[in-house]
Amino acid sequence: MEGSTVSRKLEHVKLLLANKVESSESTLLEDVGIIHNPLPEQDLEEIDLQVEFCGGKRLRAPLMITGMTGGHRDVAWINEKIAVIAEEMGIAMGVGSQRAAIENEGVAETFSIARKSASKAVIVANIGAPQLAKGYGLKEAERAVEMVEADALAIHLNPGQEAFQDEGDTDFRGVIKKIVEISSRLSVPVIVKEVGTGLSRRAVATLYNAGVRCFDVAGLGGTNWIKAEVLRSKARHGEPRRPAGSLEDLWGTHTAVAIVEARIAAPEAFIIGSGGIRNGVDGARAIALGADVAGFALPALRALVNGGEEALRRLLEAMIYQIKVVTFLAGERHVRGLWKAPIVVEGRLRGQLEGRGIDVDRYIRVHRLSSYLRRSRSWRT
Ligand SMILES: Cc1cc2nc3c(=O)[nH]c(=O)nc-3n(C[C@H](O)[C@H](O)[C@H](O)COP(=O)(O)O)c2cc1C
Repeated sequence: MEGSTVSRKLEHVKLLLANKVESSESTLLEDVGIIHNPLPEQDLEEIDLQVEFCGGKRLRAPLMITGMTGGHRDVAWINEKIAVIAEEMGIAMGVGSQRAAIENEGVAETFSIARKSASKAVIVANIGAPQLAKGYGLKEAERAVEMVEADALAIHLNPGQEAFQDEGDTDFRGVIKKIVEISSRLSVPVIVKEVGTGLSRRAVATLYNAGVRCFDVAGLGGTNWIKAEVLRSKARHGEPRRPAGSLEDLWGTHTAVAIVEARIAAPEAFIIGSGGIRNGVDGARAIALGADVAGFALPALRALVNGGEEALRRLLEAMIYQIKVVTFLAGERHVRGLWKAPIVVEGRLRGQLEGRGIDVDRYIRVHRLSSYLRRSRSWRT
């Protein structure tokens, strides 16, 4: 059992790098237009991208490389390099699920190497909801945090992935109670995240009303874990054990929709907009819709493994510069100003939001702004 958790991680990394595992659905962020201001009255050099991460440390740019690896000695270097570069750039990083190391202390170093190589980085620990259903509690959560001296703990919800994984754990009963219990007693904040099929308004509301204050929407439009598990099953058995049909590409909540729903459900929460973020403009659009920071996973892995450290640095520098320029061209001095900058929402995104009973123009003009004003009372930067 322990061995299989460890080798699955390596298999996943190889599989995701070698195949097209991104959804053919888009994030719908392309339907967000930030209105160009040709008279910005700002100095580009002075644009401020600093934000606070999940009520704690300050980031120099509003980005996070979300959790991917650890658990096998062949992927330890990935956590190490991501941590070093994240610290250098002043962005946050997450490690992948620490289940393997909680079950087998021998691989703990593949996670702790992140903290050992980056003492000041903002590092997020990671455990999964299926393990909570199977008996993990505060003790295992604290162990994950302590292993990387984490600034927060991500708990991932991945029911779609588990449903198509050959060895999937599909019993999610009791997860809400466990998350609430851990979140109220853990030494660091809990971030509830999805893995690419998106948080929903109801899920966020349930947890926000019970005290959870940080969320990572990880919506549809990027890495697709239903697709990845079907591919893995096919590679192992010739045919997938459980064919997914159109669930492969269509299931889930698009990232842009998930950000709006999360912000409506949790007006004062810290929200990571992620799932299919591939450049700084996507990131800026996610923030303009109501996210605090933008997150991404697969592009960082691809850059690092295919192009080395310099490729990852170049990717991050380009993303950071693009967010800075969008902030400038929106006429704002601080990236958080994107929350109040004029935007238009069109096309499928508007349709999806209206279909969910959201008054889009009211969200843009009233809701986003009131969240901005309520949150700004506690901002220290
Ligand atoms: C190789 C790989 C491994 C991942 N492993 C984990 C994991 O262990 N725990 C987790 O919460 N999310 C995991 N994820 C999900 C990502 O954190 C992210 O939510 C998802 O990939 C969507 O973002 P993207 O489209 O930018 O890749 C993994 C993603 C990738 C690409």
